[in-house]
Amino acid sequence: MYYPDELVEEVRMKNDIVDVISGYVRLQKKGANHFGLCPFHNEKSPSFSVSGGKQMYYCFGCGAGGNVFTFIMNYENYTFGEAVKMLADRAGVNLPEVEYSEEMRKKEGHRSRLLEVNKEAAKYFYYQLRSKQGEAGYRYLAGRALSKETMQKFGLGFANVSGSDLVQYLRSKGYADELIQEAGLAGFNEKYGMHDKFWNRVMFPIQDINHRVIGFGGRVMGDGKPKYLNSPETMIFDKSRNLYGLNFARTARQNHVILCEGYMDVIAMHQAGFGQAVASLGTSFTSGQANLLKRYAKEVLLAYDSDGAGVKAALRAIGILKETGLGGKVINMEPYKDPDEFIKNLGTEAFQERLAQAENSFFFEIRMMEREYDLKDPESKTAFHREIARKLCCFSEEVERENYVQAVAERYHIGADNLRKLVVSYAAQTGLVSPVVRPKSGLASKKNTPEENQKKSQRLLITWITEEPGIYQKIAKYITPEDFTEELYRKVADRLFEGLSRGEYNPAAIISMFADEEEQREAAALFNTKLTELSTKQEREKALHDIVYTVKKNSYEYYSKRIGADVNAVNQVIAGKKALEELSKTHISLDE
Ligand code: GTP
Ligand code: MN
Repeated sequence: MYYPDELVEEVRMKNDIVDVISGYVRLQKKGANHFGLCPFHNEKSPSFSVSGGKQMYYCFGCGAGGNVFTFIMNYENYTFGEAVKMLADRAGVNLPEVEYSEEMRKKEGHRSRLLEVNKEAAKYFYYQLRSKQGEAGYRYLAGRALSKETMQKFGLGFANVSGSDLVQYLRSKGYADELIQEAGLAGFNEKYGMHDKFWNRVMFPIQDINHRVIGFGGRVMGDGKPKYLNSPETMIFDKSRNLYGLNFARTARQNHVILCEGYMDVIAMHQAGFGQAVASLGTSFTSGQANLLKRYAKEVLLAYDSDGAGVKAALRAIGILKETGLGGKVINMEPYKDPDEFIKNLGTEAFQERLAQAENSFFFEIRMMEREYDLKDPESKTAFHREIARKLCCFSEEVERENYVQAVAERYHIGADNLRKLVVSYAAQTGLVSPVVRPKSGLASKKNTPEENQKKSQRLLITWITEEPGIYQKIAKYITPEDFTEELYRKVADRLFEGLSRGEYNPAAIISMFADEEEQREAAALFNTKLTELSTKQEREKALHDIVYTVKKNSYEYYSKRIGADVNAVNQVIAGKKALEELSKTHISLDE
């Protein structure tokens, strides 16, 4: 961190976390916190919480969490320094000009080193494609009708046939083997040592919205398997929150984006003048990606393959778009398989027409459903109508539902009144609102090991203190930071208690203490353990007593085992014994 701590803290305090996150996620106030759909994993009901009081966010579904800097780093794929800069600009705080000395660059952290090594690899592949060794790759891409300019624009490259070219190159540039491996550019085994992950493939660098290379897709130049090899997910490469081509599409200034299945589709579309095309990254479309798109467009036109798998993927994507509040339409690609082939055969204008004719996603869903029924058979036909009614129930707004009732009735020759009745009876049976499914909590699924239980009571205590700083005074005589047997917890408790003893309360500042993202996440979890809602004072007092007792007892046992190995252990054991005796006699009062 090369900005002074006080400055970082000033920037943080001037950027209210609820304000900042509201710019990215739709939040609703519930009690003391705000809730919304987590932008870091795929979910249908909100488990992402933002606390104005603590100035922190936390997702009970996937465990993502931190302060306002962590959020910006994760969402924008920024380094810490960049996140500070962005938020300083936002709040009008002047930052001193920093000189990027070699020393400082090193300090910028892990994330930027990963970005650098990827950039270096992209340069290497790019150069290979344009040299003698890369001729086969160049011929392959030209054979797929890509122009020189297009190859350049997308930074396409080539990975040589040889086994460790890239590794050698990156080593010569001073990158450590561990970093090269972590970036997913090389593997290691006993037989070959460090060896390139990609070889004899044309390379598609994958860029984030800020044009930074975060991973690669590599395609065989023929029919080999796997057709595409993709970089693994890394700290900078989250496949569920980036889209291929979005770095260009975000400035296409259309009110829609075109969502394709493949890298080649995106490239062909851009070449044909459709700069608003993007694709997911070799995995299926996620709500994180839908959220990302929502920042740039109101409507998503699906240009998925016209085969069975493509239709299935389209139906799935439509559901996600709806949940995100994005409009969806489906482009008919028949008789071709995908946009790349369509454009190659029929050209830009024909595709433009298909865009204009794109089908409303609801009608597309119904039309696909229709295929499964035999409309000549009355029973099957009735079942089809029932299914339509069931789907119509998904429109919670009455005007919209009525418009669809009329349109569907006309299209499928159903009496509008009858259809309306069917909808009402369906709605009455099921309740208009679709049931809320709570995501499985990542925390709850952890095994109930003794260590996990011990850690849990330590987390509960810290969360409780941050929710109600007043209780610190009541427990300070029993609990010290040393009672937190996890190192990270101890560091947090140390800072937290030190502040509270001076009457200061600033949990979000504690997060900035940790440079490592994993640690930030864990620290945020510490402040956001789910507390059971207890209504009566007696219940609360008993729960607090139990937690304090458990934490102290674990600490006592922990240090008892360490006598001789740890100079503090004896003192801790003596203090522990005393506190436990006292705790078993007294009760902690929550009275003021
Ligand atoms: P071409 O076949 O070269 O036209 O590429 P495409 O992009 O049209 O490929 P396709 O429609 O077969 O697949 C769509 C996307 O799925 C690709 O762009 C990749 O992201 C991904 N994909 C395809 N095949 C594989 C594979 O074998 N492994 C992985 N991990 N991803 C794949
Ligand atoms: Mn294709």
